[in-house]
Amino acid sequence: MNAFDYSYPVRIHFGAGCADKALADEFANIDGKTVMIAYGGGSVKRTGLFDRIAKLLKDAGKTIVEFGGIMPNPTYAKVQEGAELARQNNVDFILAVGGGSVIDCCKIVSAQARLDKDIWDYEYKEGKHPTEFVPMGAVVTVSGTGAENNNGAVITNEELQEKAPLGGSFAQFAVLDPEITRTVPMPQVISGAFDTLSHCMETYMGAPRTVNVSDEMNEAVQRNVIRNMRALSANPDDMNARSELMWDSAMAENGILKLGKQTDFQAHMIEHQLGAYTDCNHGRGLAVIHPSLYRHLVDDATPQLARLAREVWDVKETDDRKAALAGIDALESFIKDMGLPTRFSQMGITDADEIFHKVADTCILTGGCARKLPREEIYQLLHEVA
Ligand code: NZQ
Ligand code: ZN
Repeated sequence: MNAFDYSYPVRIHFGAGCADKALADEFANIDGKTVMIAYGGGSVKRTGLFDRIAKLLKDAGKTIVEFGGIMPNPTYAKVQEGAELARQNNVDFILAVGGGSVIDCCKIVSAQARLDKDIWDYEYKEGKHPTEFVPMGAVVTVSGTGAENNNGAVITNEELQEKAPLGGSFAQFAVLDPEITRTVPMPQVISGAFDTLSHCMETYMGAPRTVNVSDEMNEAVQRNVIRNMRALSANPDDMNARSELMWDSAMAENGILKLGKQTDFQAHMIEHQLGAYTDCNHGRGLAVIHPSLYRHLVDDATPQLARLAREVWDVKETDDRKAALAGIDALESFIKDMGLPTRFSQMGITDADEIFHKVADTCILTGGCARKLPREEIYQLLHEVA
């Protein structure tokens, strides 16, 4: 294990039906009167969740500012719109009600509203990180990203054609009520859960690649995700499976599985850049990339991929290289069983040679993985699963 310091700033309220009481308790403790409710394309209005939350805020004596229309793969322009709204209305608290897109957007709105400089330049050109934030909280309406647990946000800068991470605010609290996720369309539920599995795998593949407690917990979370994805796709009313997946999502991103490790988010860095050019669904893009990436890494991380195969996919093969390949095959079969794509053409991304060139030329290359793929090999990989 590498050395680490660990503390965790987010207060979690978890459980089916926990939302109303948790929010009433939290709202009573918000300093200031003006609360901005941030949400996506309108599901919160259709499901009645917005009205429920608005009533609780009014009961707590708060004034509401609405910031709606945050799109999947939130844009930098949307961040600026939110920051301007927060400034104009002297917002005291931001409540993100949504999935990764809404929560990520709010993390940066929270920082940009208190920063006089352009936050993209501040982070990428000056190499600085914001320290002043409008306080925020999160109500998770679709799980998978675990975005409520960290202060990293993934924002699409349309002008620069980059989808890249920015550092923003942590939520002071997060409400994870699996009942709220019942209305999420099943394809989104499955792609979100695959994102969780991807976060586990990307963490697992980082150094050190010797047996350690973080990786052994990681294997347990992966087994749990796989079992519950199968259960939930067979029965979308399985609230136990829904709850388990929601906590798996948090576990993958609350830092616990990353302790003592470098992480390898190489599949994510490729997928994010693909998202910048195609606006594709995050979990579905990852499903296409992962098996192919691991076939490229099989000789660089043979023991680790073999252990993953045996512990997570129950592969019995004794030869490490054959076991590693069998594990990758099992992952790919599972992806197909879940109705996720294994080729970009299944996502409507066709004739994409130019896009693949751009993605390979511009994605961030990570250093924590078994081998940093050169750009030419990323381009080749993308074509293999076109
Ligand atoms: O916009 P609305 O109308 O709300 O619809 C959303 C959206 O279309 C819908 N939805 C959400 N809750 C619902 C619901 N529909 C019905 N009932 C509900 N209760 O679901 C759709 C997808 O929402 P979105 O927030 O985009 O999905 P997700 O949570 O998968 O977030 C994806 C974003 O998170 C980033 C991704 O790159 C992507 O931009 N990520 C953030 C991470 C982080 N901060 O740690 C880690 C991830 O790796 C990821 O990169
Ligand atoms: Zn992800």
